[in-house]
Amino acid sequence: MNVLILPSLLAADMGNLEAAARRAESAGADALHLDIMDGVFVPNISMGPAVVAMARRCIKIPLSVHLMLIHPDRYVRAFAEAGANSILIHIEADCDVPATLRQIRNLGIKPGITLNPGTPAARIFPVLDLVDEVLVMTVAPGYGGQPFMPQILPKIREVREALRQSLLPERNILVDGGVDQVTAPQCAAQGANALVAGTALYKATDMAAAVLRMRRDALAVLA
Ligand code: DX5
Ligand code: ZN
Repeated sequence: MNVLILPSLLAADMGNLEAAARRAESAGADALHLDIMDGVFVPNISMGPAVVAMARRCIKIPLSVHLMLIHPDRYVRAFAEAGANSILIHIEADCDVPATLRQIRNLGIKPGITLNPGTPAARIFPVLDLVDEVLVMTVAPGYGGQPFMPQILPKIREVREALRQSLLPERNILVDGGVDQVTAPQCAAQGANALVAGTALYKATDMAAAVLRMRRDALAVLA
């Protein structure tokens, strides 16, 4: 499997999101991760479909849209039309999760399921066959710049084993929150092959070097 590096736009300078999107693409990122927050599912409010549309207009790499919304089903079409390539919803959301995942796929977008740090891996097992990727939160969702939660590492392994047992080995496992040059290889060693990083990449002086290093070190231990 490849290791994918996804800078998280939430950590960028909100005063120039176009430049931040272009910076991620120029740095060799595999995709751009955009965090959508409604102030209900998580305490923070971040960005909406217009920012996804801006990114779609100015860069070509895939857009990974993370819906931290209590009712993601109400917004899937808007983010699909804005240009999302993958849409990740939370298993904890207040909606018919399987139906919403099918809705995402019917719109031609890759569906993903996300679980919060306190949610057991088993909660997503019933929907594994409906998704292209799983996002394991390694911080409580809502804000960038939080410390990585190492106690989540065994959950990554649990999800990778569940995918293998379901004969879905090639599905991406993303990790998201506090991922940096130290924690990224730790996650890869547990089976995470897609690394979302905001602070570690947008605060790097040389993002391209940081992307290359994170990808190289994770690939060396990916299991
Ligand atoms: C948090 C978001 C993450 C966050 C990552 O709710 O889902 O994508 O922006 O930022 P860092 O890498 O700074 O923890
Ligand atoms: Zn995210």
